Amino acid sequence: MKLVHTIKELRDSTAPVRQSGVGIGLVPTMGALHEGHLALIRRAKEQCGFVGVCVFVNPTQFGPAEDFSRYPRTLPDDVRACEQAGADIVFAPDVDEMYPPGFSATVDVGGVSRLLEGLHRPGHFNGVTTVCLKLFNIFQADRAYFGQKDYQQLQVIKQLVRDLNIPIEIVPVGIVREPDGLAMSSRNRYLNPEERRAALVLRDALEAALSTYRNGQIETEALEREMSAVIAAQPLASIDYAVVVDAETLQHMDRINRPAAALLAVRIGATRLIDNCLITQEMPNIVKL
Ligand code: PAJ
Repeated sequence: MKLVHTIKELRDSTAPVRQSGVGIGLVPTMGALHEGHLALIRRAKEQCGFVGVCVFVNPTQFGPAEDFSRYPRTLPDDVRACEQAGADIVFAPDVDEMYPPGFSATVDVGGVSRLLEGLHRPGHFNGVTTVCLKLFNIFQADRAYFGQKDYQQLQVIKQLVRDLNIPIEIVPVGIVREPDGLAMSSRNRYLNPEERRAALVLRDALEAALSTYRNGQIETEALEREMSAVIAAQPLASIDYAVVVDAETLQHMDRINRPAAALLAVRIGATRLIDNCLITQEMPNIVKL
């Protein structure tokens, strides 16, 4: 497996692969890799002859008061993990390589990027869509893999690809959880032991909404109240949002008469965590996923 830091090296490595007709899969990440990321890489390896992983902590998707400077950076471990998961190349550019002096473009897809995370983290999705479009152009991959852990991000990326006719297939991958049900996240390492226990409230809130729905409640307001009550009972937690919305547009719906998703953003102490699940009759409980 190869580790490269420049766009030129990346292109020099992928051009012959493309010319020989081998499919290229791309897994964009910000590093600090865990089993959630590795599931994306393994899925890519099943479906593509050549897999590229990007490890880049993208400054433009962090707000001024957010954790860009203290975001975990573990490149040597990440490179080893990528190799074991089957990656063929890791692209780890520095900030200047991606945003050289004079860089000024922004991709703004509007629509689904305006809601929820878009309201709580202004500019966040413009940073995500801009860097992802750059990566799609740099890799010219056939497929790109995104986790359902960042459910809204996945919808935003689908909108980007649809609206701008980008010739790439977006492949969603299910959420990988710790054995106790906490969704894996690079930010989980910010939690102290007490906060780690408190963070299970996200799982509990989703479980509560799911079981209430399965017992016949289809009013989204009632399900949202239920999630809020579970989270409010945890003193270390505070809610950014806890909603049940249309699974595709993420718009409000009064009652569940089409696919819906429960989406949470909760602060545990100083750490902001997100989680979600589809609200369906068929799904197993989230902990058992
Ligand atoms: P990052 O948070 O590193 O996540 C990279 C990819 O891994 C995303 O597609 C995310 O949804 C997926 N992922 C993270 N945790 C997961 C889990 N527990 N189960 C399944 N998938 C999981 O998301 C980003 O980076 C950035 O916004 C990025 C797309 C790389 C653009 O900078």
